[in-house]
Order: sequence, then C-alpha cells, then structure tokens
Amino acid sequence: MATVSSRVIRFHEVGEPLDVLREEQSEVSDPPSGSIRVRVLATGLNPADWELCRGFMLGTLPRGVGFDVAGVVDAVGVDAREAAAVGDVVFGTADFVGQPSAGAAEFAILNAWSPVRDGLDPVQAATLPMVVQTAAWTLELLAPEPGTTLLVHGAGGMVGYAAVQIALRRGVRVIATAGATFAADLEGFGARVTRYGEGMPARVRELTGGADVDLVLDVPRPSPGTLPDLIALAGGDPRRVMTISNHDEARELGARVNLDELRPGLTPVTDLLSEYGTLAAKGAFRLPIAKSYPLREWREAVELSVSGNPHGKVVLLPGGQNPRTTLS
Ligand SMILES: NC(=O)c1ccc[n+]([C@@H]2O[C@H](COP(=O)([O-])OP(=O)(O)OC[C@H]3O[C@@H](n4cnc5c(N)ncnc54)[C@H](OP(=O)(O)O)[C@@H]3O)[C@@H](O)[C@H]2O)c1
Repeated sequence: MATVSSRVIRFHEVGEPLDVLREEQSEVSDPPSGSIRVRVLATGLNPADWELCRGFMLGTLPRGVGFDVAGVVDAVGVDAREAAAVGDVVFGTADFVGQPSAGAAEFAILNAWSPVRDGLDPVQAATLPMVVQTAAWTLELLAPEPGTTLLVHGAGGMVGYAAVQIALRRGVRVIATAGATFAADLEGFGARVTRYGEGMPARVRELTGGADVDLVLDVPRPSPGTLPDLIALAGGDPRRVMTISNHDEARELGARVNLDELRPGLTPVTDLLSEYGTLAAKGAFRLPIAKSYPLREWREAVELSVSGNPHGKVVLLPGGQNPRTTLS
C-alpha cells in the first residue's frame, strides 16, 4: 500500500462554503487501522457539509466535505481485513474528522461501510448513510408505537423522506408536511400529506379530525417560529416533539433535540447500512436524486444544496458519469 494522489474538495479556513471550499491535489494516506480507502464512485452531499465549513465540530484544518461515499476498495487497514478486500464495491461514511480530505475526492478513507449489494446502484447507495443514520436514530429516540400518529414536519427534505418510510414500515400512522415535489411519493408510501407554511396546523387538524397527534418529528432546514405550532399539535406537550434542526428554539421551549440525546447503544451504523442497503437493492427503500455532477462541477452542486431547496439528494460523481461502467 502507498499514499495516493487525489483531487479533493476541502477548506483551509472557516466560512461560507462557496467562499472557503477549494479543489486541489493532495495525498490520501494509507487507511488507518479499522478503516479502508476507496476509489470514489459517488459522494452524497448533505447540509451538514456546509455546517462543517461554517465551523461546526471544528477540528484540525484542512478538512474535507462529503460524508456519504460509494466506491471500490483500493486499500485495507489492519483490523479491517476480515470486513473488506481490495476490489469490493462498498458504501459508507468518510472519516471527515481524522483526515484532511473526505468523500468529495477521487479517493477517500471510510470508517464504516457495507457491501453494495446486487441490484443497488452505487449512486443510490451514496445517498443513504447520513440520512438513514439520522432518521433511524432519531426515530429510535422518539420511539413511536405502532398504531400511533406521528407528524413528520419537513418530509420533502431527505431525512424526513426517509423517516416517513421507516416509520410506516413499523406500523406507525404518518402525517407528513411537504412541498409539491414529493407529496405524491409520500402518499404512495402511505402517509397523509399536507403543505408546510401558513395554515399548516389547521390543515393537519383536518387530517386528524381535530385530534392531537401523538408525536412530532421536526426535520426541515432551520425554520424558526414553527415549533410552537408543532407543540400545540402534540397536545401542548413539548416532550412529544423532537427536532433535528431548530435546536436553540427547541431547548428554549422544552422540546427535544436529537443531538442532545444521542447515546451508545443505538443501532450501529454498519447495521443500518446493511439493512437499508439491502432494502434499497430490493426497491423497498429509496431516496430521490435531485441532480448528479462530475467532481469538476462541484461548485454547481454546492450551490444547489446550499440553496435550501434542492428537492432530493445532490451527488458528486468522481468516478465519471456512469459509475457502473467504471467498476472494473
Ligand atoms: N441533528 C442531526 O442529527 C442532523 C442530521 C442530518 C441533518 N440535519 C439537519 O436537518 C435538516 C434537513 O436535512 P436534509 O438532509 O433532510 O435536508 P434537505 O434534503 O436538503 O431538505 C431540503 C428540503 O426541505 C424542504 N423545506 C425547505 N424549507 C422548509 C420549511 N420551511 N419547512 C418544511 N420543509 C422545508 C424542501 O422540500 P419541499 O419544499 O419539496 O418539501 C427542501 O427541498 C438540515 O438543516 C440538516 O442540517 C440534522
């Protein structure tokens, strides 16, 4: 094994993503113990990437963006040799804390992964890790019982779109708020759907026949001012509402914040990757792709995601426009 030279998208100082991100040539190291290195086929982008650029979880700089990766294993660290072999096609999470570059690159170090099963497009696989991890863990904390009613506010975002599918699979009755783009998809999964924004509480009550909902999952991009309405819909009890994005307002109102409650003992990431990779391969779980871009067009990809309304996952394709033809 040896370090490899790679195009990487990363930042050397904190700021707005389009101001601080640069494309440059860098060395990607051999994988540390328990990790693998992949030749990247596809990288899913997330709002969290832009929060990293703005200083969230600030560590040693430079740092890369791109948490969600599908790729071909190119080197295997010690203690990972039973879990991967050179040439395997895998998807998983980039080590964006311990490495000076991440998934938005030609090569990346992964610290959790699962095989890309037959039937699963690597591009689709690269949309899954962060969204699945967030939706599954947050539902694990909120713990809606089968037969109870869960309101997913912001289900046109990808965490919400995933949470609706996961909750419905567990027998929960789901009401979702979403814009026009994915309303039909969400109804097709089995949710009852209404628009977010002005008049949302009355529209939700029309769907419940005036009753309260049992629990609320608040998952839009940050949208100050809606939590009081969501708490009222949950019978006025802020502990029946959990947010992933309106953190400060939730803490002030006594509502729950998923990040405050993450704890050891939640389902391990590798189990989630395996479960949802298998479901996605069978067509039983999916996330829509808004647009995919070659690595050199990363600025356009960042612009679409930073807009706040990408309407689906935004994906970079460092391995070329059709990763399936670049697998060998
Ligand atoms: N705490 C955590 O653990 C954690 C983890 C991951 C993500 N997050 C955060 O969760 C948020 C969502 O992430 P994501 O990946 O799902 O984002 P995303 O897919 O980029 O969500 C964007 C979509 O949300 C919908 N939306 C926009 N404004 C809205 C509003 N005011 N109310 C309701 N829906 C609105 C729009 O879809 P439509 O108009 O089509 O409905 C838009 O396309 C981000 O702020 C992210 O940083 C937190």
